[in-house]
Amino acid sequence: MPWKTIIEPFRIKSVEPLGFTTPAERERLLREGGFNLFNIPANKVLIDLLTDSGTSAMSAEQWAGIMRGDESYAGATSFYRFEKKVRELTGLREVIPVHQGRAAERILFQLLGGPDKVVIANSHFDTTRANVEVSVAEARDLVIGEAARIGVPHPFKGNIDTLALEGCLKELGHKVPLVIMTVTNNSVGGQPVSMANLREASRICKQYGVPLFLDCARFAENAWLIKKRETGFSTLPVRDIVTEMFSYCQGTWMSSKKDALVNMGGFLALSDPALAKKAREVLIIGEGFTTYGGLSGRDLEAVAIGLDEVLDEEYLAYRIRSIEYLGEGLRKAGVPIVEPPGGHGVYVDAKAFLPHIPSRLYPAQALACELYRLGGIRTVEIGSLMFGKKGKDGAFIPARAELVRLAVPRRVYTQSHIDYVIEVFAKLAEDARGLRGLDLIEASEHLTHFTAKLAPAAA
Ligand code: F0G
Repeated sequence: MPWKTIIEPFRIKSVEPLGFTTPAERERLLREGGFNLFNIPANKVLIDLLTDSGTSAMSAEQWAGIMRGDESYAGATSFYRFEKKVRELTGLREVIPVHQGRAAERILFQLLGGPDKVVIANSHFDTTRANVEVSVAEARDLVIGEAARIGVPHPFKGNIDTLALEGCLKELGHKVPLVIMTVTNNSVGGQPVSMANLREASRICKQYGVPLFLDCARFAENAWLIKKRETGFSTLPVRDIVTEMFSYCQGTWMSSKKDALVNMGGFLALSDPALAKKAREVLIIGEGFTTYGGLSGRDLEAVAIGLDEVLDEEYLAYRIRSIEYLGEGLRKAGVPIVEPPGGHGVYVDAKAFLPHIPSRLYPAQALACELYRLGGIRTVEIGSLMFGKKGKDGAFIPARAELVRLAVPRRVYTQSHIDYVIEVFAKLAEDARGLRGLDLIEASEHLTHFTAKLAPAAA
């Protein structure tokens, strides 16, 4: 149907109040929280776009599954349902439940990382990189050059540079324990990877005898974007696209807090029984027995149901259309964004929007705080507060980009919530030049952005 209105493909059975506050209250909360939005209590946030992780609304079917959850320590029926679903989805036989994505990463890199190893990816997500680096291996990103051109559209900015991949494997082959394709590629804006790119990456990996893994937190959104953007896929069912995507990998892990539409969960799935055996040993030490891995039986049940629901094409059409709609609204309001918007949110280019604020005064954090001050909207900075570094001489080294991520939780907000976000942005754009930067007052050594304290810079 050629209707313009986005229809949320659900009706609402249970509601939660939003956190209305006054401008004075928000000013106070910002000051008290050191201009760090992680310090704002959630009930003081009106629209929370901090993350799409673990923030989905579950369906009536999933809540029913929660009641059916089998909490047996070993061999719970919920585990077997979960295992069957993950096998059907990925084609991989060895299914290991974990409590969330980074637990799978910890297990995997404890086994495959180590000094002298180089792990290659289109882009490592932060926790992936941290787990690789904790094992004292190097994490190398080989995303295509187009990903760095923020305002220039490209349908598959998440792709890996296959020439560079081949070059690296030729040079370092024996040092590379695995190649990772993150679908969608969160670090460059939730951007999809094309099937052609997956196919070519898989061919190269096979040639050099290196296994290919998918970090598949947002596999369904990636599959839908293949259907919409890649020649030859428009009439294929999204399930078939997903099957082909997984056919190229020998292993995968998922933070199920994204595309499994649940609040907690994850898995590691492998084809290699010997590696799976070792992974289960590590699992038992740190996560739990092999049939629950740090989750409740009810969580396993909800994941199994969510993995089906996410492949509903009405849902995916709504999901991706609502992200596009937010992107269109911001563009119309004169706000520069990562083009085109990807799968799970819109990333605003704060450097282009606030050219008068230098990176050392954290323009993206200043913008995120202003969105909260003006409209009670919480977003996350992905810029120099998150990725800025200090050089050996103590000099400030800015991040490559100053972005604000508006991550949209799944099945949570309606079109009017999104319209409100666009309206707040339009208001903010009227006087963007008047916005001041922030000074960093207090910072920890690692993962600074969670605990940093800032204050408005002098005019
Ligand atoms: N891989 C990707 C691509 C992710 O986006 C995340 C989490 C993880 C792995 C780790 O999973 O949180 O379940 O341990 N991303 C969240 C975000 C935190 O906000 O983008 P986790």
